[in-house]
Amino acid sequence: MTRTMNVRGEGSAKRKLTTFDVVAMKSRGEKIVAITAYDALFASLVDAAGADLILVGDSLASVLCGEETTLSATMEQMTYHGRIVARGASRALVVVDMPFLSYQVSIEEAVRNAGNILKHTGAGAVKLEGGSEVLDTVEAIVGAGIPVVGHLGFTPQAVHALGGPRIQGMDEDAAMFLEDDAVALEEVGAFAIVLELIPTSLARRVTEVVSVPTIGIGAGPDCDGQVLVLHDMLGLNEGFSPRFLKRYAELGRATREAVADYAQEVRAGSYPTEEHGYEPAGDGG
Ligand code: KIV
Repeated sequence: MTRTMNVRGEGSAKRKLTTFDVVAMKSRGEKIVAITAYDALFASLVDAAGADLILVGDSLASVLCGEETTLSATMEQMTYHGRIVARGASRALVVVDMPFLSYQVSIEEAVRNAGNILKHTGAGAVKLEGGSEVLDTVEAIVGAGIPVVGHLGFTPQAVHALGGPRIQGMDEDAAMFLEDDAVALEEVGAFAIVLELIPTSLARRVTEVVSVPTIGIGAGPDCDGQVLVLHDMLGLNEGFSPRFLKRYAELGRATREAVADYAQEVRAGSYPTEEHGYEPAGDGG
């Protein structure tokens, strides 16, 4: 509770959304708007724009660090980026991805790592990938009082095992497995489930069968919410254009053009001009 709030959680400041608010949105039929952010500046912008959930994705390994996959993300990176995102978010629920090998080795390590993420970031929940193979882990983390978002379908930490970023759940057997995994994740306490790269019809089926919200990426329009990688939807990641992605801006092009203009003006001596400079007798600008 912040200093400005009374015991009922009401106050003059914007109230931080909780996992309960996100779950309640499904029952009210309100779509959940989720988006990634990796720093305080972008977190404050997406928060001000009305995002309900900010995901500090381990996609930062590829988006920010130029890696091929998300496998290199570390606890240190996720903790650092989680902390600076939480600093920038005043309303949205902040969820931090558990990086590869932080929850797969043992349940004890997983609980400790999940706890350390909450302890050192100020985030409200963690996300981890997988179905039947992580159920005991999710149950233990939730049992320790740490809210968990599940992640099914294409799970990027398993990219090598899955043979690349492919649509999952394409045949009926695979679809049934995925549906069972979603039901099981809800049973062990996950409060939301990300569905990545699965057919629209399967995402609809899963969304109907579980009572916790589904948040889709490349899973069609029928999920309870949607998540996109901010840098992708802003067009900063110019080489990345899968079918599911809609670019809401072309900031890659805008950045190149702006820096090219700056370079041209510096070389031509037209920036800075006298009016950008300072003199002792001036107005002190
Ligand atoms: O790491 C990430 O950004 C994600 C989203 C793509 C859901 O897991």
